[in-house]
Amino acid sequence: MFPDTRMRRIRRNPALRSLVRETSLQKDKLILPLFFDETIDRRREIPSMPGIYNNPLSDVESVISRAAGEGIGSVLLFGVPGKKDGVGSGAYADDGVVQKAIKRTKDVSDVLVIADLCLCEYTDHGHCGCISHGDVDNDATLELYAETAVSLASAGADVVAPSGMMDGQVAAIRRALDDAGLKDTAIMAYSAKYKSSFYGPFRDAVHSAPSKGDRSGYQMQWGNRREAMQEMFLDMEEGADILMVKPAMPYLDIIREARDRFDLPIAAYQVSGEYSMIKAAAANGWLNENDAVMESLTSLFRSGADMAITYFAESVAKELDR
Ligand code: PBG
Repeated sequence: MFPDTRMRRIRRNPALRSLVRETSLQKDKLILPLFFDETIDRRREIPSMPGIYNNPLSDVESVISRAAGEGIGSVLLFGVPGKKDGVGSGAYADDGVVQKAIKRTKDVSDVLVIADLCLCEYTDHGHCGCISHGDVDNDATLELYAETAVSLASAGADVVAPSGMMDGQVAAIRRALDDAGLKDTAIMAYSAKYKSSFYGPFRDAVHSAPSKGDRSGYQMQWGNRREAMQEMFLDMEEGADILMVKPAMPYLDIIREARDRFDLPIAAYQVSGEYSMIKAAAANGWLNENDAVMESLTSLFRSGADMAITYFAESVAKELDR
């Protein structure tokens, strides 16, 4: 073969490198997660996520307008409620923190609103469902998810994103939305969601670490790939519109296999710990933040993701405009 085949020929010229580039980042493929916290009046930086804030509801308009101004087209909303209880009633209260944030967002912008749908930010025990006999009660939780879905969609959410990993959650939510006449509300299913150490900073942000036990009774164990395919298959059958893999970079093989097997759109969630790792290393001067961000996000799209949820969305949008 050598020297007829010289791979370096297509790497020597910047224009040629652009022509042969297989994967590029695009702003309209990014989703920005945002936190709104009912218990504060001024924004507060999340200590383990430098540059990311818990925002008071009074800042909804400014936060959304800034993101929209940077060209962000989609946001994923999380809430911290004023009060937590055993059944997470703040999640499905019509005057709940995210319901309020959705309404205020829709008042100022036509950005796509995706609402995370889970109870863990709203329960005093920090689990993703209600508890009976010392365990998270799958079927009782489904009823609460159904109610939450209708409440979020009625407030104006375009998409609901169930992240609690209860069996049958997509079907329960689809049925409830349809029964309420909300047939155009889409479901982005956290389908292959692993029990990950990389959620640590997020749980600091929304105070949702379980007070007892952990999430291994409902989130997936790290070593399983076939089980992830089964989760995605079931969500597809139950009526999911978009399938998600979470976290992203430690699970690129799952993204790739899902892309090869399923024709539904696939989302990859670059989670809080993935964000914080890059931030911490960059703050120490150990790697170049901008390059690490672009490279890690590109890897998600190269693996087959159609969209990425990332706390870096605003900085990437700015970078892509330069
Ligand atoms: C709620 C939820 C979590 C995340 C998104 N939705 C936390 C968890 O499962 O404990 C994590 C997001 C992140 O780490 O950025 N269930």
